[in-house]
Order: sequence, then C-alpha cells, then structure tokens
Amino acid sequence: MVRSTRHTDIGDTQVPAPQDWTSLQPGDIVEVIEPGGYSYEARIESKTEQSDILWIRSHGFGTRHLLHNQDGTRLQAGTTPDQPQNRNPPALPGTGSSLPGPAGLSRPQAITPTIWRKHMNTSANSTFNRTPLIAGNWKMNMDHVQGSSLLQHLAEALYEAKHDYARVEVAVFPPFTTLSAVQTLIQDDGLGLVSGGQDLSPFDSGAYTGDVSGQFLARLGCKYVLVGHSERRTIHGETDATVNAKVKATFRHTLTPVLCVGEGLDIRKAGTHIQHTLSQLRAGVDGLTSDQAAGLVVAYEPVWAIGTGEVAGPEDAQEMCGAIRAELAGLFDADVASKTRLLYGGSVKASNAPAMLQAADVDGVLVGGASLDAGEFANIVGFERQMAG
Ligand code: PGA
Repeated sequence: MVRSTRHTDIGDTQVPAPQDWTSLQPGDIVEVIEPGGYSYEARIESKTEQSDILWIRSHGFGTRHLLHNQDGTRLQAGTTPDQPQNRNPPALPGTGSSLPGPAGLSRPQAITPTIWRKHMNTSANSTFNRTPLIAGNWKMNMDHVQGSSLLQHLAEALYEAKHDYARVEVAVFPPFTTLSAVQTLIQDDGLGLVSGGQDLSPFDSGAYTGDVSGQFLARLGCKYVLVGHSERRTIHGETDATVNAKVKATFRHTLTPVLCVGEGLDIRKAGTHIQHTLSQLRAGVDGLTSDQAAGLVVAYEPVWAIGTGEVAGPEDAQEMCGAIRAELAGLFDADVASKTRLLYGGSVKASNAPAMLQAADVDGVLVGGASLDAGEFANIVGFERQMAG
C-alpha cells in the first residue's frame, strides 16, 4: 500500500521524519516532493542500521543522506553533489521550466520533503491492499435530468482517461429520484460505475411515509448505501441506535453500508475526537458478523471539514483511520480489520485527494461538493496519475 507522510515546510535543516521511514529498505523507491512542487524518485542505496543513516540517490541532485536523531522523530538532511552538469533539478511538470537548483549543494542544506511515497507493490492486485473506492455524494443536488447529464460527462471523462474500474472503484450517490435515471444509464451503456443510496429506512416495508427501503435500492441495482452521514445525524437527529439499525437493514438487502463517523469542531478542540469517533463506530457495527464487518466501508468525515473548505491533513486522516482499523481488529479480528475499507471525507478535491490516499489506512475518499463537477471528480478518481506526475 502507498505510504506517505506530509510534512510542514519548516525551513530548517531538520525535518520531521516520515512516519514509516524506518520500514524503508535498500532498493525501495521513494518519491520526494520538495518545496516548490518539483519531485523526483530516489532509490535507497543503503541503510546503516548502527549509525541510522539512510542514503538515497536522487536524479540530478546528488546523493542525499538523511540522519535521524536519537528518538527517530526528526531527520537531518545533507547532500553530496553529483557532477556539476547534473545539478539542475528536473523540469516542473507541465511548465517546461526548472526551478533554480537548491543553493549550496556542496554543503549540508535544508530539504523539506512534503510527501514520501513508497511505491505501491504490496497488495492483492499488485498495487493496493484493498481496492480503493472513490465515492461521490451528490447530496440534495441534481434532479434526474441534471444527474443524467453529470453521469454522462463523468463517464466520458473516465473513458478518455482509460480508467480501470476494477483497479479503482467509482460510486455515485444521487438523490433517490435521480437514482433510477442514473442506474438506467449505467446498465444501458454498460458503464463501470456503481451507484448507491444516500440513506435507507431501518425497516423493510410498511407505514413509514417518505422513507425508502433497502429492498427498493437493491432492486434498482444499487451496491452501496450511505448510513449515518453527519447531515442525517444532525439535521434528522439520527442516533447511534438508528444508525446501527440502518446498517443491519443494509446488509439484510445485500447492500454494502458506507458507515459515516466523525467528530464536530467542539469535540476536535476538546481533543476527544478519537474516543468520540470510535464510540460511533462501535455502536454502528454492533451485532455484525465478521463477514459483514470485513465487507463494510467506514467513512471518517470530520464534520468541521465538510463543505467548509477546511480539509483535515493526511496525518489526521491516517490517525483516525489507523485507530478505526485497530478498533475493528479488537472488536472482530486482525484479518477482518485488514479487509474493511476506510474512506476519508471532508472538502476532498483533486488537489488534496492524492495526499489523503497515500495514507496507509485510507482506502478511498467520500466526496461531496467536488463530485458535482465531472472533470474535478474524474481527476480525483485518477489520483494515481497525479502521484505519478
Ligand atoms: P464535502 O462533503 O466534500 O462537500 O465536504 C463531503 C460529505 O459530506 O460527504
């Protein structure tokens, strides 16, 4: 799985150590993205356990060495330059121009990598441990005419990008009245997308005016259902007990729940966001079988980052998704936890999705506003191209 850590540019010779750097081994390829946006691949030439020096070879810069301090949390960086003709950094993608080379290549200097990426090589499909899911929650937008048009534009953009749906799954969650039109297009045009409902009733049928049964969604060909979205919890007063009943209803109709959990700003400020979110998780999955838990999708959506433009950092997403996976391992077992897919949601855009998806325990994103723009959403789906670029 992709591993990464985002670092703040602290403008010093000391930078925070990538979270997973100790697991890097000689021969591993990492990508270093430096301030100014240019990036390069570097191969780890050697790693001396005793002196804890990690050598990486960059293209055109020289040999960078990174020395971590006693507690392993910070790195001291230095560079031994290549031959002078090799000193220029690579051209900025798309600009054809180079940034000025870092000053003082002949002496140790500051480097502030912002993202480290261990190349993807560990998973079942030779890339990912779990199939990534990119989910678009259209909320109360797009009537059936607008929704059909959006879906067609999205399908076209993904067709042009030669998107492989088996590699990265794409799901859209239109309003109920738009679902049928979307599903007809998916079926008639043989699109690789799948669809889901934004909510369902905890009951299967009966006198529940205005509600929609999981049976109806399954009959329409939906694969997923959002359950416990923060807007349902706050606007419609859904309790943890209701959410749990809806999760079970979803499974009764052979649909897959996307169980949404996450804290509001007050809880984040109080520092109890992990306890809060794990408590929602425990309530949501109460009574599930191991098979159901393994098939579940959990979306961590910090409420303060939804629709606000505020985006949690990849470290925040990883912190919570790591805690969710550990909790699932405790509630079920490690094998189950290794299968459950965990998404991040909250102001995801094409510009921040790749960093989120590099976090080890983030298996996808749940996108609201940006999913209403076919081009933007298609770029989120194509997050791997951005990583490569
Ligand atoms: P947003 O919404 O991307 O507009 O923040 C995310 C969500 O609520 O699922």
